[in-house]
Parts: sequence; C-alpha cells; structure tokens
Amino acid sequence: MRKSLQNNMQNNNNNMNYKILAVDDEEGIIDSLSIFLKRSGYNFTGVTDPRQAIELVRNEHFDLMILDFIMTPFHGDQVVEEIRKFNKELYILLLTGHKDLAPPLETIKRLDIQGYCEKSDKFDQLLLLIESGIKSIEQMHEIKKINDELKDTYEKLEQAYLESIETLRYTVEAKDTYTRGHSDRVSEFSVLIGKKIGLSDQDLRTLQIGGLFHDIGKIGVPDTILQKESKLTDDEYSEIKNHPSIGVHILSNATIFKDIIPIVKHHHERYDGHGYPSQLKGEEIPYLARITAIADSFDAMTSRRSYRDALPLDVVKEEFRKNKGTQFDPELADVFLDILENHFDEIKEIQDKYLG
Ligand SMILES: [Fe+2]
Ligand SMILES: [Fe+2]
Repeated sequence: MRKSLQNNMQNNNNNMNYKILAVDDEEGIIDSLSIFLKRSGYNFTGVTDPRQAIELVRNEHFDLMILDFIMTPFHGDQVVEEIRKFNKELYILLLTGHKDLAPPLETIKRLDIQGYCEKSDKFDQLLLLIESGIKSIEQMHEIKKINDELKDTYEKLEQAYLESIETLRYTVEAKDTYTRGHSDRVSEFSVLIGKKIGLSDQDLRTLQIGGLFHDIGKIGVPDTILQKESKLTDDEYSEIKNHPSIGVHILSNATIFKDIIPIVKHHHERYDGHGYPSQLKGEEIPYLARITAIADSFDAMTSRRSYRDALPLDVVKEEFRKNKGTQFDPELADVFLDILENHFDEIKEIQDKYLG
C-alpha cells in the first residue's frame, strides 16, 4: 500500500516536469481541469482567452496544450494555425463539444493536432490521451538527444579526419621545399578568382578546401622523384601524373571531401584536352577545377624551382595570354589576367602571407 503510494507520488513528481497549457472559454472547464491535472501532478496553466494562449506559447515553454474547439473570438483550429507558424513541436490535444462539431480530420492532420476527445465531466479519456502524449514527448526528447549525440560524434569524426588529412598535406609540403605554402596559395588564389566572378559562398568554400588538398596525392609519389633536381624521365613523369588519382583515393573515404573530388582529380586537365588524368576537354572539365588549374599554374610559375628562379610577372602574363584556350579556360584566363593587371595587390598580399 505504502509502496504504491510512493510510486504514485514519484509519478506525480515526474509529471511536474511537464507543463500543460489549457485554453477554453468556459471558465468552469478550466477550473475543473486545473484541479484534476494538478492532482495528477502536472504543472498546469489555464486560460480562457485564445489570444492569451498564443502569447503564452510564444513566450514560454509548454510541452502539451489542450484546447477547446468552439471558442470566441476564434476557434481552436485558428489558434493552432497561428501557433504552428512559430512552434511545430507543441503537442496539441483538441477538446470537442459535440461529435458533429469536430473539425474535419483533414484539418486535424494539417495542423498536426495529435489527438482529440469529446468534452465530458469525467476526464478519464483526456487523462489517457495526456499520458500517451507525455510518453510521445519523452520519446521525442530521447530521439532528439540521440540525434544530437550522433551529430556531435559525426562532427568530431569529420574533424579528426580533416586533421589527419591536414597532417598529410604538411607532410607533402615538407618533402618538397619548393612546394611549401603552395596549396595555401593555390587555395587563396582560387577563391580570389571565384569572388571576382561572383561564385556562391558554397563554391568559394569548395575552392578553398579543394586548393588546400589538390596535391594531397603527392604523398604517394616517391621522394626521389618529388625531390629530383634534374630533368624527370618519362617514367618518373608518369609517376607524378598519378597524384590526382591517388588524391581522390585518399579523400574518397570521407563525405566532407565529396565536393572537392572534381578539383583534386582534374586540376591538371587542359582546355584543349591534352591534360591528365582524363584528357577532358573545354567545358567537360569541372568548372572549379578549371579555376584551380589557373591558380595552380600561376603559383608554379611564380615559385622558385631547383632549375629556375620565379618567373617575372611580365613573362607570367604572357604565358596566360599565350595559353588561353589551349591550356586554360579562355574566359577564366581573362579574369585572371585582369586580376594581374588591375588588382595585383591582392595577389601580393597572399604571396606575402605564405612565403615559399
Ligand atoms: Fe597537382
Ligand atoms: Fe599544385
């Protein structure tokens, strides 16, 4: 006996965590509900004005709302209509005066009303609906918590993967002193071009990350070839040409890199179709990869190599003029030439930030 009383009290205490709001223009109903639900341990608020109910839901948290269908100045379905504009989560139970006055089922579904019952002096049926409602709310909370935890774990995993790839990137650059800072600069040059042609933030982000990791596949090219100071043999050159595919292989394990794969894979294609690895031609080459190709070539020309100094700016500009339409997308080459002619300070700023 005592145990069941304790259980009861415990249940009631649990119920106190849940806030119920009732709106009915008949004060008598609100009074009875108040007595009944408070006795069952719920945190209860009752109002007789539908407008007040809307304001309460707007400003406070409630778990469940019980509302009368036929009310003045407007009906229950209109109250829900208003509330659903800013709150999709509130669990709503509708009380109807008479069966034939119930709103059509279609309205109930559309407004996401979870249950309804006929008004009666006894509240047994309503209490059952409330209890099952509370159970649903508890489950929803639980699902939301699990989802949040999963999301959190997923973000941590992605972050860890990003960091490990970042380490690989530094390893590549450490192996080859001539490419130090190269991917940072390619990343920023690409974004600069992307901004000039008004790309979306999402594309700019793809260019940024794509630039950072475009040469990641060089981790799979032997050091002796990467660091060789004399001319490469044909075989060695074909080893180098594997780096886009190796890069794709490394990055394809994580969905965060999905968008940059085309850049990694195709940044050595040429507009005339004589590039690698797929010999794509013109517009077949993914647009962002065509942008990265320009940034990449520019950085190669303006970096010191074991066999030559950085090329002077005039020579670089001439290279872009000469090779637009063959190596480079002609329109993008013109955009880049315009940057070189008229906004070179922005290029210089990037070069000074990541000194080779
Ligand atoms: Fe490359
Ligand atoms: Fe590169």
